[in-house]
Parts: sequence; structure tokens; C-alpha cells
Amino acid sequence: MPQFDHNSDFKKVVLQHFEQDGWTATAAPSDAIGYNLELTRGSECVAVQVKQQRAKVHAGQLEKFIDFLESPTGAKFTRGFLISASGFTPSVFTYMRAEEVVDVALGSFKGHTLLWVDGDIPTPPPRAHITYIGVFTCKGGVGKTTISAHLAGAFALNGYDVVLIDLDRQSNLRKLLGDGVYIPGRRGGLGATITVLNHTEWREEDYPETRVVICDCSPEYDANPEAFIEKFNFCLIPTTLNPLGINKNADVIRRTFTAIRRINTTAELFVIVNNYHSDETKRNDVLNRILKTEFETLMADDPKCHYIDPETVAIRFSKQLLYWGYHIVENDKPQLAFREIGGRSLPRTDFLKLLDYLEDHTNIEAAKAKEVRGEE
Ligand SMILES: Nc1ncnc2c1ncn2[C@@H]1O[C@H](COP(=O)(O)OP(=O)(O)O)[C@@H](O)[C@H]1O
Ligand SMILES: [Mg+2]
Repeated sequence: MPQFDHNSDFKKVVLQHFEQDGWTATAAPSDAIGYNLELTRGSECVAVQVKQQRAKVHAGQLEKFIDFLESPTGAKFTRGFLISASGFTPSVFTYMRAEEVVDVALGSFKGHTLLWVDGDIPTPPPRAHITYIGVFTCKGGVGKTTISAHLAGAFALNGYDVVLIDLDRQSNLRKLLGDGVYIPGRRGGLGATITVLNHTEWREEDYPETRVVICDCSPEYDANPEAFIEKFNFCLIPTTLNPLGINKNADVIRRTFTAIRRINTTAELFVIVNNYHSDETKRNDVLNRILKTEFETLMADDPKCHYIDPETVAIRFSKQLLYWGYHIVENDKPQLAFREIGGRSLPRTDFLKLLDYLEDHTNIEAAKAKEVRGEE
């Protein structure tokens, strides 16, 4: 419940707040990208980005701000303040903790008072119901298992226990994660468990803490028990943007939609691009447009089908994901591809962004955590 009056000029209020606090505040030049205000005091020079949106600021927006601060134009700033009129999603705090971001402070307004929020991971609300997520494409090798496991990882980083159900006869999830993994909380955050089961082992009453069940489906449609497909609240349908496969993939996705709809007419279906090369802007743009056009008629007939624009959220190609599973050949303990390289982890960021997107575009209870501090 935003208490801030969104009709007043939020940026001006923020500017005045910092002036009263002893900063010299100047508005950024109108063509400046990445920040709205510049604050100086003593040896400090701070870039402030002000977000007036009604929705909570999400992890993708934090990532962009950090990228700006690390860019040549951002180099003159000693720190950054990200100020929101409506708070932050839980993934933002997870990102701050996981990447140990120290040069960005998050501020939220309660009434007209600025509160610095340090992002205690909010406790998940009591179980309302379990959310079932299917990861499903009638095709092998597109990233179903990878996406199931790491989406579970993003939920776990946000403090949710997750059950992963391996519906594939190849049992890759089992091979990769064994019976499961524990994702420890960082710096006081909650830890959470990812449990791997096969479909005969799953009984809701045995897992009272579990709010999220993710099913890694078999590409052979008939191998997936109908009882599970029926339960899906939403499905993720991974695909890739390669030119030769594009029409074939569109066809695969269409068949996947039809297959799910035979049994489940209510699930929201999201196509997500995997193996995305974010440095190929121009080529991606063209391929993205083709794929999107392919689905337009389909989506017009079925408002619960969505194509996630890869410019907003995609799972980027990464060596970490490519070699995820190397621990099996080394006989090492199961782990996700969330290891940091130079303090950052591309896959971790992508899956937190995907979770943010799903929270924003579905009404699943499970992904929604309690209001973050500063707004309670
Ligand atoms: N974003 C990515 N970047 C790099 N490699 C990936 C990515 N996604 C998947 N892979 C690799 O592609 C292969 C197939 O993925 P997988 O999840 O097993 O597909 P599926 O379950 O659909 O058969 C795996 O070896 C995986 O490591
Ligand atoms: Mg698989």
C-alpha cells in the first residue's frame, strides 16, 4: 500500500530531502542516462536514481543501475542511491546480499520520510496453497532441466523451500542434484531447501513448508502424468533464438501449447528464451521479431499465452550453465551454477530477474513475499 502521493513530483521531493540533509543536489542533464540526481558532500559524489513507478523496483533495474555505476560515465561517482516510491521486490535484496553490493544504498519512502532499507529477507507468508510450475517443451536439449533447477534456486535464495519433480525418464535432475541441495542464506538471510523427488514420491502433506513445486517435464508428452499437468498454475516453455531452428521451434512451441491445453485450460504459459547472447543486439532484434510475430495470432486466441521479450528477461548463454553438471563427472557434491566470477553471477541474476517477472505477471501467491521493510 503505497502511502506516497504519486501525483506530487517525486523527484523534487527526493531532491529537497537530500538538500535538507546537507547535500548539494543537482538534477542530472536531461539527456543523462542512468541517474536523475547528483549529490555532493565533502569528498562524496553520489548518483541517485529515482524510481517513481507504482510497482516495486525489481532486480533487473538494480542490475542496470550497477552497470551504469561501473560504466565510464558512472566512474566519477563514489556511490549510488536507488530511491523507490513503492519499495523493492524480495529479489532485489537477494541480489544485494548475494553479489555483496556495497556501493549502492536502497531507499524507500514512507509518507514523506526516506527510509534506508537493508533488505531483511521477508518471511514467507503462511501457506495459502502450493504453486505448481511446469517447465515443458516438446523437445530435448532446450534447457528444461537447467531452467527447472535454477528457477528453484532463485526461489530458494528468496527463502522458499522448493520441491523439484523429475518427470523425465532420463532422470537428469536426479543425476545432477541427487536428493536435493540446501541453499544457505547469506548474511543473516533465510536458507532454503530444494528437494528432488520423482512423481510417485510427492505428497503435499509430507512437505508442509513447501509452497512451490517445479516439474521438469519429459519432452515426450505422454510420459508426463496428467495429474501433474492438471495442477500447473503456470508453465515455462524454453526456446532458443537460432535462425535455422526458428520456424521449427515456433512449431514446437505451438504443439506444446496445444498439448498443455488439452488437459489444463487455466495455466499461464510463458515462452522464455534460453541461451541468449545479449551482445548480439541487432541479430537478436530480428530473430526476436520473427518469433514474436509467430505467436501473435496464438496469443490473440489465448490471453494466457505470453512471450517474454528476451530484452526484458532471458536466460543468457553462460559457460557456467554450459558446464553445469561437471560435478557429476568429478563425483563432487551437487550444486547450482550460481558461482561468482569477479563478484557477479550471470545465471543467478537471470533467474532472480525471471522470478521477478513471474511475480509481476502472475497472481501466484507463492512468489509474493510479505511487504518489504519500509512499507509495512
Ligand atoms: N543458458 C545456457 N548457457 C549455456 N549452456 C546451457 C544453457 N542452458 C542450457 N545449457 C546446456 O544445454 C544442455 C541442455 O540443457 P538441458 O537443461 O539438459 O535441456 P533439456 O532438459 O531441455 O533437455 C546442457 O548441457 C546445459 O548445460
Ligand atoms: Mg532435461
